[in-house]
Parts: sequence; structure tokens; C-alpha cells
Amino acid sequence: MTTAVAGGRKHEMATYSKGLEGVIATDTKLSFIDGEKGVLEYIGIPIGELASHSTFEETVYLLWNGRLPKANELAEFNATIRKQYDLPPQIEAMLKQLPKDAQPMHAIRTLVSAMGLIDQKPNANDLPSIREKAVKLLATTPTMLAYFHRHRSGQPFVRPDASLGLAENFLYMLNGAKPTSTMAKALDVCLVLHTDHGLNNSTFTARVIISTLSDIYSAITGAIGSLRGPLHGGANEGVMVMLNQIPTVAAAEAFVNDKLAKKDKIMGFGHRVYKAYDPRATHLKVLAKQLAQDTGNMDLYDKSSAIEQVMATAVAAKGIYPNVDFYSATTYHCIGLPLDLFTPMFVVGRIGGWSAHIIEQLADNRLFRPDVDYKGPHGVAYTPIDRR
Ligand code: ACO
Repeated sequence: MTTAVAGGRKHEMATYSKGLEGVIATDTKLSFIDGEKGVLEYIGIPIGELASHSTFEETVYLLWNGRLPKANELAEFNATIRKQYDLPPQIEAMLKQLPKDAQPMHAIRTLVSAMGLIDQKPNANDLPSIREKAVKLLATTPTMLAYFHRHRSGQPFVRPDASLGLAENFLYMLNGAKPTSTMAKALDVCLVLHTDHGLNNSTFTARVIISTLSDIYSAITGAIGSLRGPLHGGANEGVMVMLNQIPTVAAAEAFVNDKLAKKDKIMGFGHRVYKAYDPRATHLKVLAKQLAQDTGNMDLYDKSSAIEQVMATAVAAKGIYPNVDFYSATTYHCIGLPLDLFTPMFVVGRIGGWSAHIIEQLADNRLFRPDVDYKGPHGVAYTPIDRR
């Protein structure tokens, strides 16, 4: 530790940690992770309990309020969300202008940002305003994705059905037919599992942006940009691409060993925090197997299992296990989602967590502004352009 003076104020310079690994950047009461033991809790409730008994909407209420809702509170929260499923006309008109070959993650990032254009008070950061805007984003992002998918595939929009929960309504708007209860429940569980996860990269992005007292649209737009990356939420699409590249279950071992020999990363494995099995993956593995059996996709599940076995022998000693993205790929495929909607589904779930963190950050804000370890030269003379 050294002491530095910045802005006339003395402060301790923390030890440099590349990628902020192991650095505590804020405190939170939202989710707890024990990376060694493979534990994840939202407001103290183990993730497995929530996946088994809760719904996405109830889980979001839990995170936004610090407790589970009573029956009337949940009914009111559900009704508030459902009333706002449909898109504001300006956003719908804008969506129809988007290039049909645009990637859905770019489309949703743009549309979430555009929601700030039509809000009369986009910068209002008081708690009631933030909650109102968060509900609006929670309710409309599934519609944005379903409409965008139908727009690009030349199909008419299917208007939301306010009698349905968020996951079920999304599948209805996407496919134009009500999903089976198994499919709706499976997607709902995926959303619960993806709602929050400590100070992951996209949540950190949202908190950094809101810490300038910017606005929720900017914070969530930035978070979506972060989530898209293949080292973060984009890995679920990478997993599916990999599964498609492996022709048979028997070919999985050679495929993985070849990648590891080249020092390539296997998508859906490894985590900055978990050095044990990701508890979300534990749940998704069971779900993926069930859905694969129901939908005739056991080859995907079997290839995934084969990859997991090779990885267990090759790299589990380094603390590399399947993460949330690994079995979510098979799960989403079995639900019938197109590949490029996998990461956008992560957005839909994580809006709940990002909003909770935005609320938490604003309640006790301090601007994020870390130091940097400058490695460049000093006192260099300016060389006129004709002498360079
Ligand atoms: N496949 C093979 N080897 C891996 C993998 C992997 N997926 N992940 C880590 N390793 C190895 C590294 O090669 C390295 O080995 P070495 O010490 O012999 O050089 C060691 O494990 C440490 O890896 P780092 O990349 O330094 O670990 P870091 O904490 O930075 O990485 C990350 C975490 C980015 C998630 C990494 O594991 C990865 O790239 N995984 C693949 C992408 C992925 O699945 N991302 C989703 C994460 S979950 C989420 O964001 C929702």
C-alpha cells in the first residue's frame, strides 16, 4: 500500500488487480455468491429454492423490495407489469424501421435506449420514478424481442395477452401460439436463474453509469452492451455454435481436446467467481435433460454431457466447471428459441437484477472512479509535424 494525493485529498492506493479480480467495489444486500462452495442466494434465499418454487415476477419483487411479496402484493405487481406489455407507438414505429438483418442484441440495446427519448422525465432518479421506469423496461423488453423477431421474419405482430405471465406471454407473442405449460415454466425458471448475480460485468456497468447520476436508460443500455460479449452473456450462443460444430457424441472428446491443446476457451465453462459447479448450471442441467427428452433433442444433451466429462478430467482441477450458459443453450434450443435470441433472453431476466442494483446504488451513491497505474513516458517534448 502506498499513499497518494489526489485533488488535495490523501488516500490509500489499493493493490492493482487486473480485471479487478478479487476487488470489492461496493456492498450489496441483493445476491450472495460463495464461489468455492457453489452457493448463490437472492436476499438470502438459495437459488434452487427460487427456481423450484418462485416465478420470475415474484423473484424481481423480492430483489426490488428485499422480501417476498404477500399474495395481494404479488397480484398487484403482476397486474402492473401486464398492463404495460405493449410497446409505446413510437417504439413500435422505430422497431419497424430496424434493418431485418440486425442482430437482436443490437436491436434491443437500441430500443431500450430509445425508451429514454419518449419518457417525459427520462432523468428522474427518485425511487418512485426509477421503479416506474424499471417496470416499463421489464414489461416491454420481451415484446421488443418478439416483435423484432416477427418483423425480421416478415410475420405480423402478435399483441400481448395480459392474462399471461411474462415468460408465457413472450413465447405467445414470438410464436403466435400459446406455449405448453412445460415450455412456459421452463423459460420462467431460466429467467429466475438469470435475474441477478453479484457484481458481474454488466451489473457493474449499470452501477458505474448510474453512479454519475445519469439515468436508468443509459445504465441499462450500457449493461446490455456489456452482456453481449462472448466472455459474459454471449457465451450461451457460443455454446450452441460449438454443439452444432460437433457432429456426434463420439466426436466431442476429440473436439474438446483439440481446442484445449490450442489454448482455446470452451464456451460455457469457467467463471471469475465460481471455482466449483455453478449452482445455476446444476438446475439448468436437470431442466435441459428433461426438455431434451421431451423434444427429441437428446443428442444435444448427450454432447453436452460428453463435453462436461472431458472437461472434468482435463481442467476441473483448475476450478473450471460448467457455468450458467452451458446448459442454458440446450434449454433455450428445446424451448424453440432461435439461436440469436439466447443472449437477449438473458437481458430480459437480468433487467430485474440491473434495476435492483440501480435502485441500491442510488440509495447510497458514490461515484465510481478508480485510479489507474500509468505506465507511459513523462515530460516528452512536442515534436513539430515536419520533424516527425
Ligand atoms: N475453457 C478452457 N480453459 C479455461 C476456460 C474455458 N472456458 N476458462 C478458463 N480457462 C483456463 C484458462 O485458460 C486459464 O488457464 P491457465 O491458468 O493454464 O492459463 C485459467 O483457466 C484461468 O482462466 P482465466 O481466463 O484467467 O479466468 P477468468 O477468471 O479471467 O475467466 C471467464 C473467466 C472469462 C468466464 C473464462 O472462464 C472464460 O472465458 N470462459 C468461457 C466464456 C464463458 O463461458 N463465459 C460466461 C461466463 S458466465 C457469465 O458471464 C454469465
